[in-house]
Amino acid sequence: MKICVLPGDGIGPEIIAQALRVLKALDLKFETEEALLGGCAVDAAGDPFPEATQKLALAADAVLLGAVGGPKWDVLSRELRPERCLLGIRKRLGLFANLRPAVLYPELANASTLKPEVVSGLDLLIVRELTGDIYFGQPRGIEARRVDGVEQRVGVNTMIYGENEIRRIGKAAFEAAQKRRRKLCSVDKINVLETTQLWRDVMNELAPEYPDVELTHMLVDNAAMQLVRAPKQFDVVVTGNMFGDILSDEASMLTGSIGMLPSASLDETGKGLFEPCHGSAPDIAGRNLANPLATILSVAMMLRYTFALEEAAQRIENAVKNVLRQGLRTSDIYEPGTTKTGTKQMGDAVLAAL
Ligand code: IPM
Ligand code: MG
Repeated sequence: MKICVLPGDGIGPEIIAQALRVLKALDLKFETEEALLGGCAVDAAGDPFPEATQKLALAADAVLLGAVGGPKWDVLSRELRPERCLLGIRKRLGLFANLRPAVLYPELANASTLKPEVVSGLDLLIVRELTGDIYFGQPRGIEARRVDGVEQRVGVNTMIYGENEIRRIGKAAFEAAQKRRRKLCSVDKINVLETTQLWRDVMNELAPEYPDVELTHMLVDNAAMQLVRAPKQFDVVVTGNMFGDILSDEASMLTGSIGMLPSASLDETGKGLFEPCHGSAPDIAGRNLANPLATILSVAMMLRYTFALEEAAQRIENAVKNVLRQGLRTSDIYEPGTTKTGTKQMGDAVLAAL
């Protein structure tokens, strides 16, 4: 079992170090190999997603990623920006199914900006299509054109989905729902966008294959509202790349602590890339302040989804719950009455709980 490890930039290396300690403690005979991705790769190789990293990632069974980017590289051209390598690695590895859970741990109920009764017990999963939509559609660009009789610059992007693309993400979402509370809400914008009318049609065509799952549909603006009004109505939400980008950030904040949320991006065979939902937090990098739990929980998702090691995954998740119960908190989730702790010490505590 080969894991390609991409620590990345900012807090990436610190949180990955703790996640690797947890992985090693499980004694599961993994081989790990590190490579460069993001700003660090631009600095070392002039390319945010160098050939050597592509090779390693393609050859591995799973990829564990920290975070990429930072102000140092924001001045670079679009092609060299670390964000671009995220899109590159998703496309190159065919990681079309992005699973973003939003779970509120009872110990962290106060971290949410929403009333505890609205969010307590929240456990939803956003299944975001990750390699299509307006993110990748052609034509795209900024060009000179005559609009309304005036020569001017226009910005162009193309929202496009093929029915096969919709079907495979739909299947992944129905299957995810079967393993949970068997409710699937598909989010679209059929009142305006034809692409999403096709999306809804294909979801409806799939539904008879999953009679045990209840399929509903919601317009994206309403979904954004329902997520803050009554988020516990959702079990699994499936949507396209752009709507999923936006709704998953919104959902993560229901829990109040993006530092706690892992994610998985899977290909057709179950191979995947696993990373925390948060970014590289350059402002706190290298100061032992970052919360390593989202990355540690990403290791649990890796064990579950790529290696089918459900028991080991649960061991990690239980260890994380255990340290929260002990009252240990990194500063992002700290509240009076709990014990503030650092990145490494949080890793120590998870290891001890394991
Ligand atoms: C995410 C991020 C990326 C995205 C950016 C950094 C390209 O926001 O993973 O959600 O939009 O997909
Ligand atoms: Mg995003």
